[in-house]
Amino acid sequence: MCGIIGYVGFRPVNETLFRGLRRLEYRGYDSAGIAVHDGERISLLKRRGNLDSLEPHLEALPREASMGIAHTRWATHGHPTTENAHPHLDCRGEIAVVHNGIIENFQELREELTARGHRFLSQTDSEVVAHLVEEEYQGDLLEAVRRALRRLEGAYALVVMSSREPGVLVGARKDSPLVLGLGEGENLLASATPALLDCTHRALALENGEMAKVTRDTWRLLDLAGRPVERRPFEIPYDVAAVEKGGYADFMLKEIYEQPQAWKNTLRGRLDRSGRLRIEELEGHGIDLSSIRRIIFVSCGTSYHASLLGRYIFEAWMDIPVEVDIASEFYYREPRLDPSCLVVAVSQSGETLDTMGAVRWAARCGAPSLSVVNVVGSMMARESDGVLYTHAGLEIGVAATKTFIAQMAAVYLLGLYLGQERGLLEEGFVREVFSYLESLTGSIEEVLEDTEAVETCAEKYCRCEDFLFLGRNINYPMAMEAALKLKEISYIHAEGYPAGEMKHGPIALLHPGFPVVALIPSDPIYDKVRNNIEEVRARQAPVIAMATRGNHEVGGFSDEAIFVPEVRPQFNPVVLAPALQLLAYHIAKMRGCNVDQPRNLAKTVTVE
Ligand code: G6P
Repeated sequence: MCGIIGYVGFRPVNETLFRGLRRLEYRGYDSAGIAVHDGERISLLKRRGNLDSLEPHLEALPREASMGIAHTRWATHGHPTTENAHPHLDCRGEIAVVHNGIIENFQELREELTARGHRFLSQTDSEVVAHLVEEEYQGDLLEAVRRALRRLEGAYALVVMSSREPGVLVGARKDSPLVLGLGEGENLLASATPALLDCTHRALALENGEMAKVTRDTWRLLDLAGRPVERRPFEIPYDVAAVEKGGYADFMLKEIYEQPQAWKNTLRGRLDRSGRLRIEELEGHGIDLSSIRRIIFVSCGTSYHASLLGRYIFEAWMDIPVEVDIASEFYYREPRLDPSCLVVAVSQSGETLDTMGAVRWAARCGAPSLSVVNVVGSMMARESDGVLYTHAGLEIGVAATKTFIAQMAAVYLLGLYLGQERGLLEEGFVREVFSYLESLTGSIEEVLEDTEAVETCAEKYCRCEDFLFLGRNINYPMAMEAALKLKEISYIHAEGYPAGEMKHGPIALLHPGFPVVALIPSDPIYDKVRNNIEEVRARQAPVIAMATRGNHEVGGFSDEAIFVPEVRPQFNPVVLAPALQLLAYHIAKMRGCNVDQPRNLAKTVTVE
């Protein structure tokens, strides 16, 4: 949700900031801007639209700048216009600010500042920060920002510079991510590590309530009371190639094809020599798994669908009640939790504020939390009691693909691990299922190699304006995920529905122009789903059946068939998911959509 970057150093500032913004564009892309300091004054460039709209104007900025800040926006307060784009300046043009997050008390601050003569140029919540810092500025930017922060309520990651202090950047964070990149003769502040990679692989993450003062050769971390904070830098575990498309047309397609690797990496190294499952990052977590009586998954978006899968798996393998909640619906109803409830937060980014809210609510109730996270060292990984990393690698496409399959791997793994640690699953069972999971890499590869039927379907139905995805039991979450993927990237209205529930409402919508994708892999409820398909056919809606290879009767009750490899019924979601992603991808491409940057979306949602 918005990408911010600040740079001070020896490289050409405009290009360095712009390249950094490119690496953050997945966080928001409705407007963008750059402010640079040329040693005397601050110059500003802002444009509505994504970075392509900004790029042709970069030359208007002074070339002799030695530091600057930049922003790519996902609008919360104020339309995506040029005026509302960041950076924002104070009245005198001496303080420049980029912000990610929401200042909740901005109305009140704005009124107060307006009454004191400040003139506001945008409708954003963020602009108040520039004016507040201006009010507090008495020759020391760090101190002015520190004092201004005391007035702010809400979430923020900020980078601020002053025309009166060339060579100094000040950063601060609360509930929105901010990392410090440490180079030689250059330093950076940014929302996420990809933005640092062209300059350095050494970084450290600011924690909530921390600030940083950065020059080209020095950096200092401190808390809001001004006390120094010690932190060891870490190495960013991927390189620039990971943030390039590598010959694929889009990041999304590249990431779809990285799924076998994401699956494998998430499972890698999880068995110890004695054949016991071992999750290294969970060791020493201090959660007493034997006392857990209830498990609650919380998450948003695609991560919610991986969580739903978790319920089916955990309930099949263990006699423990499992609930699944959408994070934004969870903590405001103040659910009753106690130390016997384990909250499992599933999140690709580890920064989603609603899911963070659930983790914090668990902590308030004394309930242990365990997060399943892809971004190492992210806020959720740090704040929850235990973490299981998904190791999918960096995902740039806004629509989650490889991180979803990695979450599925993690969910199976966690189910086995909990069963093992609680003594509910035999060691032999755990080992056997684990090696079966490993063997599924080949099945995922098979799906990705054979895309002809998917592309044919995409071509035939890409102009339809409604789709229904039906699945039953463990495949139902895949129907929901497929519908989400399709609407996200193609703007087609789509619903994922339990196949058996369709007759209670959605069946009224069906007509010959309303395709129904029925997930009907071979499993014990195959016949029930088949009956549901007959109900669709009776309403003349076209049926695209996704079935197990070797099913010779499917052609008799569907208009199109897409086959997936045969796997054990509990693992059908693993082969359905990539096929469904490809279907959504090809439909979106045939409709001419930008799959990497779907309208109105952002990859990391750091607002509630
Ligand atoms: C956004 C993204 C989705 C993602 C959801 C949850 O909506 O566009 O792809 O599933 O946030 O994000 P998380 O990082 O918590 O998995």
